[in-house]
Amino acid sequence: MTSQVRGSQLARLLGQWHALPGRRRNPDYAALAGAVRGLLADGRLPLGVRLPAERELAEALRISRTTVTAAYRELRDSGHLASRRGAGSWTMLPGTHRVASTGLWTPHDDRDMIDLGVAALAAPPELLSAARAATEDLPRYLGGAGYHPTGIVELREAVAHGYTARGLPTSPDQIMVTNGTQHALDLVLRLTLVPGGNVLVESPSYPNALAALGARRARISTHGLAGREPGWDADLLLGSLRQTRPKLAYLIPDFQNPTGHLMPAELRERLVATAHATGIDLVVDESFVDLPLDGTPVPPPTASFDRHSRVVSIGGMSKPFWGGLRIGWVRASAPQVQRLAAARVGVDMASPVLDQLVAVHLLAAAPTIVAARRRQLAAQRDTLLDALAERLPDWRVTVPRGGVTLWAELDGPISSALARAAEEAGVRLAPGPRFGLDGTLERFLRLPFTLPATDLVEAVARIAAVRYDLDRAGLPPWREPAVIA
Ligand SMILES: Cc1ncc(COP(=O)(O)O)c(C=O)c1O
Repeated sequence: MTSQVRGSQLARLLGQWHALPGRRRNPDYAALAGAVRGLLADGRLPLGVRLPAERELAEALRISRTTVTAAYRELRDSGHLASRRGAGSWTMLPGTHRVASTGLWTPHDDRDMIDLGVAALAAPPELLSAARAATEDLPRYLGGAGYHPTGIVELREAVAHGYTARGLPTSPDQIMVTNGTQHALDLVLRLTLVPGGNVLVESPSYPNALAALGARRARISTHGLAGREPGWDADLLLGSLRQTRPKLAYLIPDFQNPTGHLMPAELRERLVATAHATGIDLVVDESFVDLPLDGTPVPPPTASFDRHSRVVSIGGMSKPFWGGLRIGWVRASAPQVQRLAAARVGVDMASPVLDQLVAVHLLAAAPTIVAARRRQLAAQRDTLLDALAERLPDWRVTVPRGGVTLWAELDGPISSALARAAEEAGVRLAPGPRFGLDGTLERFLRLPFTLPATDLVEAVARIAAVRYDLDRAGLPPWREPAVIA
């Protein structure tokens, strides 16, 4: 973890801190303190890091040192900063905060908060009957020690069957059950990436995957996705793989998080051919593959073009079923699975047997459960689109043909400022820069459609109200970035 943030880094993170709502009514130091609180709340400024000295930050922001001194004092008073004379000031949170399910910080008393930071559905009604049926099965396992590093065989069979049904013949020994897709990614990275190794990811991408890569100290390069379908630019993507030759690429071809894009079959095939030619490992995250909407046909799995075990697929139960199950998996070659299982023994040994049995029952009922999820998601997506068209007509949205999120292009570089203001109005948002690496993507916002329609409509109404407050606060006009020759 970073233990110190430099003045220039904090200045970059703060971005348009002067554009906060109510800015005109507040003195500079209060706006600056508010912006630092916002960065802490949305997780971009970690807890326990040392902030730059006052003089250094003043220089980086080109403001007076008195302003920074007053801002730090306010942050100390509100419990967001601890200082020791001569040693510096560290970020903290007042005791009334806790970590929310998004990994973002939230006040304790947030009952009225509509959480659009999380892109996952509540459990399906069938979960309870699956859990009861799993307890009936449990006695079959109680005679053994219960450690199954690759997972219990019935679940590996069911997952392998799912791949085979999608056109990718798979045997159970090619599957390792994990505690969620995130865990699958972490294990795969442990095995394939030396610390400091080069990785290519999409931009925007899934923030917790970026965190997992950060934990391996990966050196990350990005392929920028376009707003329009299909999102990936084939020539650019394959060209940068050939030129930068990363050790691996982490991609989300099936209803990408956050954009919802679906990678065409032809690009999947060319991508795998490029990986073969260049010796790059592809880690393909299929978290949303079961959630096409409007009958959208899903192209063949990326790994179906693989002949040399270059593609590792990861996926799980969280999006079609329930995140609380914490069941995911890796599909790889049988020897790779054995190596992953050996690595896992030093981490968490195995996944809980009971939860795996619940997963077996849910997968057996998948056609019914997942069809209902798709209908629910399509209806909620349409409600969200209608509410946005009515309340925020200047935002541009590409209708996602699957998955659980849409990626809205806003009418200015306001995403972080909007998220801070929305939090005050009872809506938690994950602003665009959370999905990138360098504080860019301020013009974008991810909106999941996993909450009930009434919550989505209310959330959009609250967001629209604070959006117009930002205008009253006098937002600087958006300028196209200048070309640097
Ligand atoms: C692309 C992607 N990968 C992985 C995950 C984590 O999933 P799990 O709950 O299975 O760990 C998510 C959850 O949002 C996701 O969107």
